[in-house]
Amino acid sequence: MLNKIAVIGGGNIGGVLVQEIVKRRLAREVALVDVKEPDLAKGKCLDIAEGTPVIHSDIRVRGSKQYDVIEGAELVINTAGVPRTVRPDGTIPSREELLTTNLKITDFVSNGIKKFCPGATVISIANPLDAIVYRLFMNLNPPREKLVGMAGVLDSSRYRYFVAEEAGVSVENVEALVLGGHGDSMVPVRSCCRIAGMPVEKFISPEKLEAIENRTRKAGGEVVNLLGTGSAFVSPAWSALEMAEAIIFDKKKIMAASALLKGEYGVDGLFIGVPVVLGRNGVEKVIEVDLTDSEKERFNKSVEAVRKTANEVIERTK
Ligand code: LAC
Repeated sequence: MLNKIAVIGGGNIGGVLVQEIVKRRLAREVALVDVKEPDLAKGKCLDIAEGTPVIHSDIRVRGSKQYDVIEGAELVINTAGVPRTVRPDGTIPSREELLTTNLKITDFVSNGIKKFCPGATVISIANPLDAIVYRLFMNLNPPREKLVGMAGVLDSSRYRYFVAEEAGVSVENVEALVLGGHGDSMVPVRSCCRIAGMPVEKFISPEKLEAIENRTRKAGGEVVNLLGTGSAFVSPAWSALEMAEAIIFDKKKIMAASALLKGEYGVDGLFIGVPVVLGRNGVEKVIEVDLTDSEKERFNKSVEAVRKTANEVIERTK
């Protein structure tokens, strides 16, 4: 258990995070900050706090418009930013189209973290995922262990769910990795997908797998289209908590996450979704997977898509 976790952004993901942190008792205190009027964060936290007696949780919950509420947090989960929503013409934007708005918000968030909990480990969820993590890195300049993006756990979870459904087996039996950027170029790695330790191809035909992998790449958009008013929020929050628990309980758990590469996969200085070991120190190790030639090719394409957005982030600093 930590002393304090801060959640930044009181939207749908932030709300689920606070509820779950209180239920799972991951810290003695959870703080939520959101600048939204009249006082969204305070309202959400009061709602949750008033329910703590009936769920037998003495975790303190505090919400505020002011960033000082996050003072002293050891772990920060950043959700601040606008989500994707269906446009009036029925189309949906790409995650990259959120960049302009969410960069401004991220700069504001960075100042809050710098001022009130500069040593915290940060898990970031805001989109476009890899670019926002990159901006946080530019602003905060933390050691690589201390900053990580949540996307791979969610994308892998979606792949696992679709595979389990098709194979008619428990989701617990399915292991999978989705690597690369958190955009339409993400790479579901079939060679790493196993059902109870056996290759997935033993259970599902190549054609069906291809369809599942395409659906995985577009799964975020599928939910945006169905909800009509925003993007997925329960599965992203649970995925971030999977990472938080690995850190809090020093599990040394391997999962896909957006981490700063320093030469691994032939990439230097970019945040890309790769398997990492998460433990008490944050990103304790980056693991290099042996990809097939076609997976390597797709991974490199995805890296180039992330590099393009990262370059835009740098451009917009000047
Ligand atoms: C998604 C958003 C959260 O993939 O990026 O649903």
